[in-house]
Amino acid sequence: MAAYLWLVLAFISDVDASSLRPLRQRSPCQVIQNEVYCNDLNLRTVPATLPYGIQKLDLSRNLLQNLTQEVLGNYISIHHLNLHSNNIQFIQPGLFKNFTNLQVLNLSRNNLDVFAISKINIGPLTAAERLDLSGNGLYTGMTDFFLSEAPALMNLSLNGNSITKVEKKTFNGSLALRNIDLHNNVILEIEEGAFDSLLYLSELDLSINSITCITDFNLSQLKVLNLSKNSLECFQTTDSDLEYELLYLDLGENKIHYFPVLPKRNKLIYLDLSRNRLMSVNTTGTEDELEQFRDTFVTHTQTAGTKRYQNFSSLMYLDMSYNKIKRIPQTFFCSMLSLEHLNISYNCIGNFSVNQETPLNSLKTLDVSYNALQKLSFGENTLYFLQELFLQGNFLSILDPGTFQKLPNIRGLHLQQNYLNVCPSYGKLPQTGVPPSCVYFVSIPTLHFLYLSVNHLEVLPPFAFNGTPLSLLDLSLNPGLDVHQNVFSGLETSLTHLSLRENDIPKLNMDLSQLISLKFVDLSTNKLTTLPLWNKKSSIESLNLQNNNLATLDYETVLVLERTLKTLYMGYNPLNCCSNPRFLYMLQRSNVVVPDIATVTCQYMENSKPVEMNVGSVTQEQCQNLDSKGVSIIVIVVTALVVIVVLVVLSKVCHPKRRKLTDGFRA
Ligand SMILES: *[C@@H]1O[C@H](CO)[C@@H](O)[C@H](O)[C@H]1NC(C)=O
Ligand SMILES: *[C@@H]1O[C@H](CO)[C@@H](O)[C@H](O)[C@H]1NC(C)=O
Ligand SMILES: *[C@@H]1O[C@H](CO)[C@@H](O)[C@H](O)[C@H]1NC(C)=O
Ligand SMILES: *[C@@H]1O[C@H](CO)[C@@H](O)[C@H](O)[C@H]1NC(C)=O
Ligand SMILES: *[C@@H]1O[C@H](CO)[C@@H](O)[C@H](O)[C@H]1NC(C)=O
Ligand SMILES: *[C@@H]1O[C@H](CO)[C@@H](O)[C@H](O)[C@H]1NC(C)=O
Ligand SMILES: *[C@@H]1O[C@H](CO)[C@@H](O)[C@H](O)[C@H]1NC(C)=O
Ligand SMILES: *[C@@H]1O[C@H](CO)[C@@H](O)[C@H](O)[C@H]1NC(C)=O
Ligand SMILES: *[C@@H]1O[C@H](CO)[C@@H](O)[C@H](O)[C@H]1NC(C)=O
Ligand SMILES: *[C@@H]1O[C@H](CO)[C@@H](O)[C@H](O)[C@H]1NC(C)=O
Ligand SMILES: *[C@@H]1O[C@H](CO)[C@@H](O)[C@H](O)[C@H]1NC(C)=O
Repeated sequence: MAAYLWLVLAFISDVDASSLRPLRQRSPCQVIQNEVYCNDLNLRTVPATLPYGIQKLDLSRNLLQNLTQEVLGNYISIHHLNLHSNNIQFIQPGLFKNFTNLQVLNLSRNNLDVFAISKINIGPLTAAERLDLSGNGLYTGMTDFFLSEAPALMNLSLNGNSITKVEKKTFNGSLALRNIDLHNNVILEIEEGAFDSLLYLSELDLSINSITCITDFNLSQLKVLNLSKNSLECFQTTDSDLEYELLYLDLGENKIHYFPVLPKRNKLIYLDLSRNRLMSVNTTGTEDELEQFRDTFVTHTQTAGTKRYQNFSSLMYLDMSYNKIKRIPQTFFCSMLSLEHLNISYNCIGNFSVNQETPLNSLKTLDVSYNALQKLSFGENTLYFLQELFLQGNFLSILDPGTFQKLPNIRGLHLQQNYLNVCPSYGKLPQTGVPPSCVYFVSIPTLHFLYLSVNHLEVLPPFAFNGTPLSLLDLSLNPGLDVHQNVFSGLETSLTHLSLRENDIPKLNMDLSQLISLKFVDLSTNKLTTLPLWNKKSSIESLNLQNNNLATLDYETVLVLERTLKTLYMGYNPLNCCSNPRFLYMLQRSNVVVPDIATVTCQYMENSKPVEMNVGSVTQEQCQNLDSKGVSIIVIVVTALVVIVVLVVLSKVCHPKRRKLTDGFRA
């Protein structure tokens, strides 16, 4: 209470100092031109004397309970009133009648259900264009008390309430609505015609509800419809020749079995059907049922038995990932001349091909990952603009030679988790004959990213990537991989990222320093005992050598790496830290960051027992001690050897004499 009095005083003292100047610094409300911010102040009522003529008043996150003429009556000039997150449970009927400029009224997160129980109407919202009633615990029928006289209302948020049914009369008093957000309610039913009178409705968000079926969709003026995360089993448009304005349709995360029946004449750009139960792209189960929707299909080919699909000539984005589709006939894509993004990952497709009849020449991204693909083929002059191809997680092992060479704009190939092998380069690709049991990666001049991890790759033959200017090459997790010396020939200036992680490689024969652009190298989890010499200028920034059999790095290599290296992973190696002080220095004190330093240990013998010590605690003195111990050991060993040699020599010298003696006796 004391705080409140002080607040009022602060305002009163400001009143005569004429309207729209910032309040005194001690005042809790902030005035910026004609906007007043009183948010987060634990206010229980509206400060009584705010400047006249304010246009925006933010009272969000306070403790207001009752909105009455008394507390708000002075501010009828307001355009924007934010009452988000208070405890409002009472609004004086007719309060907003005189607020002829009030365009935005934000009542989200209050207790308006308490008000609605009393069945009082808040009266006219004369000018309101945006009304936020989200998070108020409102249930079916309660919205009537707020919407019955809202002739200018365009944007309405009712998300996060408990509405179970959208009634026919719900929007009767708000016919100007363009945008309705009903997401996150428990809507089970939409009465027929509930949205019919809303001639301007263009966006409707019904996501996160419990709707089970839409059987006669006929909101032809709607542009955006979100029905994701419901329990939809079907979606069907009324049979009509009307052109629908629908651009975005989100049906993701439902239980849809058959491909939805969409408007015959549509402008659809975006269709999300991911995470449903589609078994095919058929709109119905049987041919008989199909007859019913005959007119909805494009008359593309008249051949008997050829199925006709809907016309999606504007569709740019189609997501059917996470379904149970086994087969997609190519004719399904016939009309999709604009399709840029196709995602059919996580299905059961065994065979995917693109031919000249349906060339998908607008497609930029194609994701067929995590299916059961064994066959893949692309015709000539198809997929002209394809840039990213995702094929990981399939059963691909044999592909026609030139499969990827046919893609004139391909930039990224994701082929991990398949059964592919890499073909050697023999100049020209074989044109005919049996497809080889390997894949050609030569001569793909646009390809920059190639992922081949987990493919059971056995050999990387020489010049395998000739004419393909890769900047990233991931060959990890192909244990036993035999890396040929000249495999990276042709990648000298382009390759920046190389991963050979977890390949059990005992020795790398190639000269990595010829890859002058190489910046990120992962050689972890192999069996390397030495690194290939890095003696030229290098660009290496990050090097992962974790979990190998390295004892040290060459002095020369350290000198070269130190110039550019920023990050080095070195843990889990049997390091002999003292053998190369420069290396020890690099690990301990240079600018090179060693993120796994806690696992970098040095091994040495002490009292003929192996000892491990973290590299961080190894000192130069210890190394010198070790060295001198070493020296004394050497002295002892050498002495011992000398003694032994002398003894042996002596014995040898003696024995022949004896022999000669015995010989002499024999003679
Ligand atoms: C709001 O009104 C109710 C009754 O209408 C009353 O009990 C309550 O004290 C009022 N709250 C405030 C903060 O004025
Ligand atoms: C609205 O304004 C009229 C005239 O300006 C006034 O008589 C009436 O009391 C006001 N009503 C409310 C609810 O503020
Ligand atoms: C209402 O206010 C909250 C919090 O400031 C905001 O997140 C929400 O977008 C606002 N609603 C409208 C319709 O402006
Ligand atoms: C209504 O909301 C949409 C986005 O949801 C926004 O683009 C539009 O400007 C809003 N209209 C009004 C009148 O606030
Ligand atoms: C909607 O309002 C009109 C007039 O405002 C009225 O005639 C009609 O009966 C109302 N419809 C419903 C379903 O309440
Ligand atoms: C949609 O269907 C309802 C009832 O089936 C009908 O009253 C209405 O006129 C139709 N709307 C349009 C735009 O065709
Ligand atoms: C549909 O709604 C869901 C959940 O509210 C949201 O994640 C998704 O982005 C929306 N879809 C579109 C196309 O806006
Ligand atoms: C889809 O339709 C085709 C042709 O009408 C039919 O052969 C096929 O069995 C259908 N697939 C499913 C899963 O119903
Ligand atoms: C598909 O629709 C587009 C535009 O709506 C039209 O130009 C095209 O002719 C239609 N295609 C077929 C095969 O009907
Ligand atoms: C395809 O969909 C899956 C699953 O929804 C998603 O993880 C993946 O990122 C999508 N692919 C592309 C290229 O967007
Ligand atoms: C793969 O699909 C193509 C075209 O849809 C078809 O011609 C071919 O027979 C199919 N192959 C297999 C093995 O299913």
